[in-house]
Amino acid sequence: MSISRFLATQLGKPSGIFGRLVMLPALNRHNLPVNALALMQLHLGSTDRVLEVGFGGGALLCQVVASAHQGHVAGVDYSIDAVEHCRRKLSRHVSSGLLELHCADVCQLPFSSGTFSRVCSVNTVYFWPDPHAAFGEIHRVLQKDGLFVLCFSPRKEMQSRQFTLHGFRLYEQQELIELLISAGFRDVSAESTSHKSDHWVALMASKA
Ligand SMILES: C[S@@+](CC[C@H](N)C(=O)[O-])C[C@H]1O[C@@H](n2cnc3c(N)ncnc32)[C@H](O)[C@@H]1O
Repeated sequence: MSISRFLATQLGKPSGIFGRLVMLPALNRHNLPVNALALMQLHLGSTDRVLEVGFGGGALLCQVVASAHQGHVAGVDYSIDAVEHCRRKLSRHVSSGLLELHCADVCQLPFSSGTFSRVCSVNTVYFWPDPHAAFGEIHRVLQKDGLFVLCFSPRKEMQSRQFTLHGFRLYEQQELIELLISAGFRDVSAESTSHKSDHWVALMASKA
């Protein structure tokens, strides 16, 4: 397997020794600026009920549990290695019942409709085979007036990177806005941040 294909596989689903020891810590370091953007746009209050989809190494989850400490936080990731890594890392919050972590796919979220006041997902949409179904499922688990924050790097930033040739689906901002609206979201707005050669966009979408 080529290095770029291996990297793409690990980014899409960190697993094994490489996933645990290299990829998950590297994601936490590299994605600090975009996780900060997501946290800022979530505007969390202490009693919010928050879901993160595709939490990887858990850097954003750590900040979310600190903010929503009187509410409830859930995370889903379809990598069992990411789930076990974060269960160990955040065991205090799992034991206290503040945090629940599940190995699940974004298209089959193990929650009742209207459970969350906030949902976020960072650098994950490239790996979703059916983004319309995924956004529909996120819309289902959000409560009325709930907020979804989706962070990603646009196609023009990503397409020069060799690893994106292997199974990534790349988007421009407008394509994702249209997909969000077709899944039922309203009032979609955008903010962005840059760090060195990276550029990320946050889309904020409400459930009417
Ligand atoms: C590139 S990593 C990003 C991790 C973290 N959000 C960050 O920004 O550092 C993508 C994560 O999304 C997860 N993921 C990808 N597709 C998924 C899906 N369909 N359902 C749930 N998790 C998914 C992967 O297992 C991986 O942990």
